[in-house]
Amino acid sequence: MSILFEPVRLGDLELANRIVMAPMTRSRADQHGVPTAEMVEYYRQRASAGLIVAEGTSPSANGLGYCRTPAIYNAEQIRAWKAVTDAVHAEGGLIVLQLMHVGRASCAQNKPAGAATVAPSALRARTQLFTDQAGLVDSDEPQALSLQDIAGVIDEYRQAALNAREAGFDGVELHCTSGYLPMQFMASGSNLREDRYGGSVENRVRFPAEVLTAMAAAIGAGRVALRLCPGNPFNDISDEDPLATAEALCRAAEPLGLAYVHIMRSPLAELDAFALAQRHCSSGLILNDGFDGASAEVALQAGQGEAVSFARHFIANPDLVERLRRGLPLARFDRKTLYSPGPEGYSDYPQSETVTP
Ligand SMILES: Cc1cc2nc3c(=O)[nH]c(=O)nc-3n(C[C@H](O)[C@H](O)[C@H](O)COP(=O)(O)O)c2cc1C
Repeated sequence: MSILFEPVRLGDLELANRIVMAPMTRSRADQHGVPTAEMVEYYRQRASAGLIVAEGTSPSANGLGYCRTPAIYNAEQIRAWKAVTDAVHAEGGLIVLQLMHVGRASCAQNKPAGAATVAPSALRARTQLFTDQAGLVDSDEPQALSLQDIAGVIDEYRQAALNAREAGFDGVELHCTSGYLPMQFMASGSNLREDRYGGSVENRVRFPAEVLTAMAAAIGAGRVALRLCPGNPFNDISDEDPLATAEALCRAAEPLGLAYVHIMRSPLAELDAFALAQRHCSSGLILNDGFDGASAEVALQAGQGEAVSFARHFIANPDLVERLRRGLPLARFDRKTLYSPGPEGYSDYPQSETVTP
């Protein structure tokens, strides 16, 4: 039997198999960041994954930036997420929440009134965001966070981790890539600060390290994880030395004893992210690199990590685990419905029993 179907323990998380559903923004929450009934059904259908990492979810109103993305800072959002986690647990699944603060990759149209776009420095990202009102718009000019503001944002993450536990999540994963707030701090091109959060690489990784520390103190390090993709230039990120930055973050996170590190290999980065994580992280690794069943098996057999994650294959294959186990062909997803509201192209992909071979 393939190693993919063997159980594995990552911190306090006991996975029934090594096939993880990677986080995917699908824009099916309501206008107030509240998860919908479609989301309950979508995640329930995918509960046979060894672990679901639920989509990037904001710890605060300021952290929102894409249309119809979920949040977890108020009672209504927590209540709605509880329906998701209950559904996944009822199917025997395990689910953690990815916490995503987009920082400067944001626009006012996609946030509640009064929310601000914030970043380490007042540098606009050369990126555009889709809005329901006006189509694609430029990102906002961000406000630079003061030292007091930074302490406040760290506290938002801490509270979001507690809220996630209250909502029934088995843990949280910090989104530390793709040009969002933690990476804006880490990358030299978006962080021009001259205080203890800017300048040297140790200072630039301080923000994500303090966020992880605060979340681990709140809910236990065995339920806190980190996602990174060294060298990923997405959302206008440039860094003078992505390898040194990623190494510094791993070194800073190491003493915490996190549940796992979710490591993505970017085709655009000129470094071997998996080797880097193996060298610097003693937490279990979840590997992500455009895998199919065969390449995932090879990576695990080679001892590169403890589990693998799949994103796109989970879109049209809700029972991906069963399909890989039975060697069934994988269905293809429809791009047009990736971010559209409603169940179409989201919670209406069939399970394999109903697929004609
Ligand atoms: C529609 C879509 C939404 C995504 N949203 C997120 C997200 O919210 N957080 C994140 O860390 N990665 C996100 N990703 C990246 C995926 O988790 C994954 O790293 C990437 O798709 C490569 O894995 P794959 O080849 O198995 O699809 C997203 C990818 C897709 C296709």
